[in-house]
Amino acid sequence: MDMFDLKHQTAVISGAARGLGLAFAETLASAGCNIAVLDILPQPSSALHELGSQHNVKVKYYSIDITVRDHVVSTLSKIVQDFGRVDININAAGVVSDESFLTTSDKNLQRTFAINVNGFFLVAQACANVMVEQYKSQHGDVPAKDATTGSIVFIASIATYIASTAQQISCYTASKAAIKGLVKPVAMELSRYGIRVNSLSPGYTMTDMMRGLQTEQPDLVKQFEKETLFGRIALPQELKGAILWLCSSKASGWYTGQDLLLDGGATSWKHPAVLN
Ligand SMILES: NC(=O)c1ccc[n+]([C@@H]2O[C@H](COP(=O)([O-])OP(=O)(O)OC[C@H]3O[C@@H](n4cnc5c(N)ncnc54)[C@H](O)[C@@H]3O)[C@@H](O)[C@H]2O)c1
Repeated sequence: MDMFDLKHQTAVISGAARGLGLAFAETLASAGCNIAVLDILPQPSSALHELGSQHNVKVKYYSIDITVRDHVVSTLSKIVQDFGRVDININAAGVVSDESFLTTSDKNLQRTFAINVNGFFLVAQACANVMVEQYKSQHGDVPAKDATTGSIVFIASIATYIASTAQQISCYTASKAAIKGLVKPVAMELSRYGIRVNSLSPGYTMTDMMRGLQTEQPDLVKQFEKETLFGRIALPQELKGAILWLCSSKASGWYTGQDLLLDGGATSWKHPAVLN
């Protein structure tokens, strides 16, 4: 038995036009999983569509704003028509703005929570409803003894574990803490349908989001590099093993209601950088 075989499964991934979401789509496609991507960009990176022929899987891109419930619900119906089912949901869209707590604007508060919290909530809720219907059509009302129906993963952040002097992101951090707060109660509610719910907290990782921050604050990445035990920040591919494990019910079937932190040791020591 290949514990990481995802053939005939479908993953709905938000934020996979680029960045970590795209890396997650690559990983799941390489395991044989069909991929439906929700992202606000009009077009994804060309690498996304290449996954279809590279791995002989179906890949479809849906350009939507995940903060609008009607769009999310109608897109999920379309995905069910296009793919037939939903087995995995990774929530990897996200925004961050550097603003001090004392001057954080309403605009930042509303946008950050709309995308990082409400958007994740709406997409996961719509995916879970599809997964629950799939479970009921097979098992009726009998509660599941094993977690085989589906896996939902919220991308949280190292920011909820430790504050970095390099950034002022209380609004972003609170949004990620809110999403971590969803994990245990939703894992509890969905367990009877065989659905697992976890979050993954990446440390500092070089993506378009990080490149954008670096343009605004040129010393940011240098500071982050000093904060990990290996003197560098992560590459998106270094999160691939963890996401594949979280999404593969044969591999991580007993893991639910948890947060998995992948931070290159950044939260494991007192940084010499801040002691200087
Ligand atoms: N890069 C890091 O160091 C890091 C660290 C910890 C956590 N994270 C989290 O990982 C996730 C991915 O981050 P990334 O670095 O790949 O960022 P990214 O900016 O490269 O990608 C985020 C994607 O989300 C999409 N998006 C934004 N608003 C949207 C909306 N309203 N509807 C649909 N899609 C929308 C963007 O278009 C983009 O494609 C985010 O949740 C981020 O907070 C990133």
